[in-house]
Amino acid sequence: MAKPASPRPLRPATQLVRGGQMRTNLDETGEALFLTSGFVYDSALQAEQTFTGEVEHFQYSRFGNPTVQMLEARLALLEGAEACRATATGMAAVSAAMLAHLKAGDRVVASRALFGSCYWIVANLLPRYGIQTEFVDGSDLAQWEAAFRRPCQMVLLETPSNPMLELVDLKAVCDLAHKAGAVVVVDNVFATPLLQKPMRLGADVVVYSATKHFDGQGRVLGGAVLGSKKWVEEVLQPFIRNTGPALSPFNAWVILKGLETLHLRVPAMSRSAATIAQMLEERSEVEQVCYPFLSSHPQYELAKKQMSGGGTLVSFALKGGKETAFRFLDALRVIDISNNLGDSKSLITHPATTTHSKVGAEERARLGISDGAVRLSVGLEDVEDLVEDIAAALDVAAGNPAPKKKPLGRMVVEDSVAPAQAVAKPARKAPAKKKPRPEASAEAAKPAAPDAEPELFPAATQRRKRG
Ligand SMILES: Cc1ncc(COP(=O)(O)O)c(C=O)c1O
Repeated sequence: MAKPASPRPLRPATQLVRGGQMRTNLDETGEALFLTSGFVYDSALQAEQTFTGEVEHFQYSRFGNPTVQMLEARLALLEGAEACRATATGMAAVSAAMLAHLKAGDRVVASRALFGSCYWIVANLLPRYGIQTEFVDGSDLAQWEAAFRRPCQMVLLETPSNPMLELVDLKAVCDLAHKAGAVVVVDNVFATPLLQKPMRLGADVVVYSATKHFDGQGRVLGGAVLGSKKWVEEVLQPFIRNTGPALSPFNAWVILKGLETLHLRVPAMSRSAATIAQMLEERSEVEQVCYPFLSSHPQYELAKKQMSGGGTLVSFALKGGKETAFRFLDALRVIDISNNLGDSKSLITHPATTTHSKVGAEERARLGISDGAVRLSVGLEDVEDLVEDIAAALDVAAGNPAPKKKPLGRMVVEDSVAPAQAVAKPARKAPAKKKPRPEASAEAAKPAAPDAEPELFPAATQRRKRG
């Protein structure tokens, strides 16, 4: 049986564990997973009344689903927003928020320092539909002011930005944008709702990639749009209902469980990120370190004003450009090369050749993304292991001899349930750049035959073979 609601407002840690849960009459402890595409009605009349809105009843998971609704309620509580809609990915959240609101003839002003796909939407997609767009240097208030001299319907910005952790003064830009009549959309992925509350500073809409810190364990994709009840119900919901970027109930359930530890993961990861940023500042191989809570960050005062922590990402530029950056990435033994972020595993990427490869060299130069820049998403490993891994890889990148490489233990997929492409190919050789994992078993760490990869999970593979 449902308990009476708490008479007091709940704190974030409690909201993340309990917020939005709707128990069924079976009194389950955990959030129920309603893995269903549709719902049935007691009668034709009930179906009709559901569609006219006279009766509240789930209709179809593209429009709403109980597990997804629990996630939406939890996120709205955490953000302090009136309403939330979950989406299949972060990009579905960004595009839905923009396309639901805008029409031909409207004008959008965006900070230039955006995630690559967000940049593409503003630069390439919106103009195709007759929407004018203009980029400004997000850190320069004079440029925002100038851009708002002409009518503007929407602002899109990211702070801290991906990948160079540039900040936008949220309060100042929201005030200016509102005077120009614009709705302000803030992509708050890097800060998370724990470290920055854009709505308290004036943002109208906040978007997230739930793929990042919300899941936080590299399992599923998801996204969320938060705003006022009126805007979400009248503007966003009809767009979502009819265009279909719905989040899978399974993914919603995974993200709900991920959220339960968000308040433990994000502060721990941020503490490690700050330690690593400080350590990097001491290294002569590093040209520049970007971390909002380093006093050397050009917007340090603003970071302290609008964020309660520096975040889980550190970007830094290595002297020597792409070649040195690649040598550094390939020499890491704990941190993985991956373009995802916000994961419990530390992940590193070279933005110029991955996340921001499509924005072009000229634009990258304007954004300060040099060929030596790398973006590190700091995970939950022991920070000493991360510091040692980075220090050793910096030595290698600087030309000191590389440690001897051991073959990587990995599951062989070719003769088990593998994608068609993998089945068709001969067994792959262990790529030379791969690194030995500390967690690989002694068996797996033995040198492999030249044309075979060692099996990390031989028993599992055999089970599959028999099945
Ligand atoms: C700042 C930012 N916004 C949006 C997205 C898009 O999220 P998703 O990959 O879930 O579509 C990303 C993904 O990396 C991101 O870093």
